[in-house]
Amino acid sequence: MNTQKILVTGGAGYIGSVLIGQLLHAGHEVRTVDNLSFGDDSLSAYMQNEKFELVVGDITNKDVCKKVVESVDSIVHLAAIVGDPACKQQPERATSVNRDGSRNILSAAQDVHIKRFVFASTCSNYGKMSDPDGYVDETTALKPISLYAELKVEFETILMNLKHTSIVPICLRFATAYGLSPRIRLDLTVNEFTKELALGRNLEIYGEQFWRPYCHTTDIARAIILVLKADEKIVSHKAFNVGDTNENYQKKTIIDLILKELPEAKNKVSYVAKEEDPRDYRVNFDEIKKSLSFEIEKRVPDGIKEYIDLIKSGTIIDPDSSTYKNV
Ligand SMILES: NC(=O)c1ccc[n+]([C@@H]2O[C@H](COP(=O)([O-])OP(=O)(O)OC[C@H]3O[C@@H](n4cnc5c(N)ncnc54)[C@H](O)[C@@H]3O)[C@@H](O)[C@H]2O)c1
Repeated sequence: MNTQKILVTGGAGYIGSVLIGQLLHAGHEVRTVDNLSFGDDSLSAYMQNEKFELVVGDITNKDVCKKVVESVDSIVHLAAIVGDPACKQQPERATSVNRDGSRNILSAAQDVHIKRFVFASTCSNYGKMSDPDGYVDETTALKPISLYAELKVEFETILMNLKHTSIVPICLRFATAYGLSPRIRLDLTVNEFTKELALGRNLEIYGEQFWRPYCHTTDIARAIILVLKADEKIVSHKAFNVGDTNENYQKKTIIDLILKELPEAKNKVSYVAKEEDPRDYRVNFDEIKKSLSFEIEKRVPDGIKEYIDLIKSGTIIDPDSSTYKNV
């Protein structure tokens, strides 16, 4: 793709700050709008780049949305209250940002005729698998079992039904992310488990048999860039799962992979029964591989090593700081 001017909403976040680095590296101009819920440290490496622009603002404000879509070619919409726990904790704010804020950005985008609108959705939309031995894919009916996923499904539906528009709408259902980023998150499964065990703490695991797919932040960002430049006929009005079929893991397997690196933590793990997070899904990612030749470059063990190094190096002064968590 020729270089474009791209608006990334939520660019200061875990995925956004990785994506911005990749977009700038590829020569694009990037504007981000973010209300900086977790600060702006994640953007410090880009602030001096003349192709980068930060607009501090909130997508629930229609005037902000109108302003930030001006003169952009494409939009990657990441800004949200992210995750089941965060949406459960503040349902009104989640609805306001994830429903109304998303509609504001889309409506502003329609007024200025942007080319592509890429929406960050989630594999959480699949909910609990009906066939415990099977896999879900893009043709499987969505069964959201949380406010977070309900709001994602609702906006996906709006986008996929966009008619009489020159915009190419694309939904990407990311696997649960892990890995490094300018905005570290220590509340996501792989990162959190690794952190606790690398700190020598006891770790209680519930739902150890539950399956979930995982994908590295850099691979998620690569997938976003891929759909920004892919043939319109292949991606328009389509939803793609983003990840790799071989990267579905039960929580127990993730623990085993961490213990391979940290054998001294063997007695620190206990498994408990608790029905807190019933999401259980194994996802098939063949579609993005087949249609767009997408291949991941990192696997969960790579992320585990990254977080062991991060924690053991002492770079993070207070690993329990709320900066690294969404709740
Ligand atoms: N991290 C994952 O595992 C994962 C998995 C599936 C989908 N996703 C989706 O990817 C996107 C990015 O997730 P993330 O992990 O980077 O989350 P994040 O919380 O790190 O980033 C979200 C960013 O959005 C900003 N933001 C929140 N509300 C805003 C508002 N009203 N106006 C402007 N900015 C606002 C925050 O300040 C933050 O910088 C989200 O849409 C999320 O639902 C993430």
